Amino acid sequence: MPNQRPTTSDQQQTTSDQQQTTSDQQQTTSDQRPETNDYFVHESSYVDDGVKIGENTKIWHFCHVLPETVIGDKCSFGQNCVIGPRVTIGNNVKVQNNISIYEGVEIEDDVFLGPSCVLTNVTNPRSQVLRRSLYEKTLLRRGCSIGANATIVCGITIGRYAFVGAGAVVHADVPDYALMLGVPAKQKGWMSRHGHVLKNPDADGIMVCPESGLRYQLADNVLRCLDVGENEPLPEELTVGQKVYDDFKQNR
Ligand SMILES: CC(C)(COP(=O)(O)OP(=O)(O)OC[C@H]1O[C@@H](n2cnc3c(N)ncnc32)[C@H](O)[C@@H]1OP(=O)(O)O)[C@@H](O)C(=O)NCCC(=O)NCCS
Repeated sequence: MPNQRPTTSDQQQTTSDQQQTTSDQQQTTSDQRPETNDYFVHESSYVDDGVKIGENTKIWHFCHVLPETVIGDKCSFGQNCVIGPRVTIGNNVKVQNNISIYEGVEIEDDVFLGPSCVLTNVTNPRSQVLRRSLYEKTLLRRGCSIGANATIVCGITIGRYAFVGAGAVVHADVPDYALMLGVPAKQKGWMSRHGHVLKNPDADGIMVCPESGLRYQLADNVLRCLDVGENEPLPEELTVGQKVYDDFKQNR
């Protein structure tokens, strides 16, 4: 029974720097979850005290949500995720398997985290030096995607709708809509809100997403969508994919 596990030390610190998940705070279990609402937590997962989880959020197998974490509506967490303590996650955030979201990380709405991507919270970790009150802030802005196995070095901001390719290592701020690839990650282009490389600008610097038809304009190295504001939701008819990626690539 998960709620009969022994309680250990007086410290609850799950971080990349000091991995100690322990304590008397690790005792909220399937039968002690906060009352309310329409979220789902698989019985193999733990949710600690003081956690808020929004409606229609799903937390699948073998996850642990640490104290004072706030998770929005319509999120999903795959198998083997650790979230918190004191992490804030927006609405409609999709977290694939094997991801730890440490204190210091903030995630806005509509972010996608690919399987086994790595977030960090101390730039210069040393086992002999405690830095528990010194976690560095990493901000994942609305709509960005982090590819499988990518690593985000802490203390940076990933811009809105930016796209970090699989396996990249990102160590500096990323602009809105930037496509970042490689180790160290370099900007290789611009990615639309639907995840397509934007090409062939017209005389006014306008590029059109092949999937959505939305127009994007590059001016002074800043990309903006001309048809839907960066903080607005997509129109309903543009929220379901119609073709696989390669079909669009062939028509580039
Ligand atoms: C970034 C991405 C979208 C590019 O896909 P693509 O358009 O099909 O890319 P291509 O295969 O045409 O490659 C274009 C160029 O980018 C390079 N490239 C593609 N993906 C790369 C990556 N992840 N890292 C480094 N370089 C990459 C290719 O080597 C190629 O380089 P070249 O022009 O010098 O030959 C894709 O590779 C990716 O990383 N997707 C993320 C997948 C993921 O993590 N999903 C998680 C959910 S399951």
